[in-house]
Amino acid sequence: MTALLTGGTRVSAPFLLLGDRGMLGRAFRELFAARKRTFKGFDLPALDIAEPDQVGPLFEQPWSAVINCAAYTNVDGAEADQAAALRANGTAPGVVAAACTRARVPLVHFSTDYVFAGDARAPYLVDAPLQPLGAYGRSKAAGEIVIRGSGAEFLIVRTSWLYAPWGNNFVRTMARLTRDKSELKVVDDQRGRPTSAQHLAAATLALVDRGTRGTLHVTDGGQCTWYEFTVEIARLLGRGTIIRPCTTAEFPRPAPRPAYSVLDLGPTEAILGPMPDWRVNLAGVVAEMEPL
Ligand SMILES: NC(=O)c1ccc[n+]([C@@H]2O[C@H](COP(=O)([O-])OP(=O)(O)OC[C@H]3O[C@@H](n4cnc5c(N)ncnc54)[C@H](OP(=O)(O)O)[C@@H]3O)[C@@H](O)[C@H]2O)c1
Repeated sequence: MTALLTGGTRVSAPFLLLGDRGMLGRAFRELFAARKRTFKGFDLPALDIAEPDQVGPLFEQPWSAVINCAAYTNVDGAEADQAAALRANGTAPGVVAAACTRARVPLVHFSTDYVFAGDARAPYLVDAPLQPLGAYGRSKAAGEIVIRGSGAEFLIVRTSWLYAPWGNNFVRTMARLTRDKSELKVVDDQRGRPTSAQHLAAATLALVDRGTRGTLHVTDGGQCTWYEFTVEIARLLGRGTIIRPCTTAEFPRPAPRPAYSVLDLGPTEAILGPMPDWRVNLAGVVAEMEPL
């Protein structure tokens, strides 16, 4: 970790938080504030991390690490605008990684279960071959590859099915739909691991504080289908909505979805201990849910 000498006291340099207004970025802002860790956050439109001329000057001061939460995350939108997805998810991480390499600052970056094909029968190991099904997954895989080849010290954290009490995410969408509809159909043939953004931020910071490098998976513990996830959201909210399981084929979307995207947590749990079950993390997020 970079350290400054201030009046004889060693003080850790601040974190540089990129994409700080997104769902995960906000979780980091709140975590840093709660833990009294110093940071500076940036996001569009003030800073475009795909632009080397904008990223370069940020490194005129020391950072403990760069935490890159910036991304293009519209999975269906990426099919129609592959260039935008590739710019934010492939080009931009390359720009940031090059700056980190020059400044010798570790880079923490987030990737996704969508880099895998979703046809496995056992949890995806961290070194499973990248085989994305759609444009979003391809753009995120490009980001992983460029960081690994950059010479930067890096920690790539793959995660899945992210949710928070704020922002646009599945939990908030289902909270709205179960409030407004008496009956719902939800796909029951895609299986994965939900992930609380607050848990992801805290677990990532714990990894960073231990100096962990390489590629790891961080999600909530356990696994479920979107249908099972919705049943639990409705239960926690006390909704009386009838929720019926359906197939992916009944809900065609522009981007193909992996049927099985459970990420293996073995190496992460060996460092941090067991990940909290998704029902536990979900209950915490539902309790803090911001107005829908
Ligand atoms: N959401 C999920 O379910 C999920 C699942 C697996 C992995 N992940 C990964 O987790 C990470 C965090 O996701 P999230 O859901 O928190 O994302 P998010 O809410 O969409 O936030 C991403 C932020 O990055 C900003 N951004 C986009 N392009 C940028 C650029 N060129 N320069 C600077 N900022 C830029 C966005 O600004 P605008 O809003 O103005 O574009 C937004 O504020 C991402 O790496 C994502 O791929 C997410």
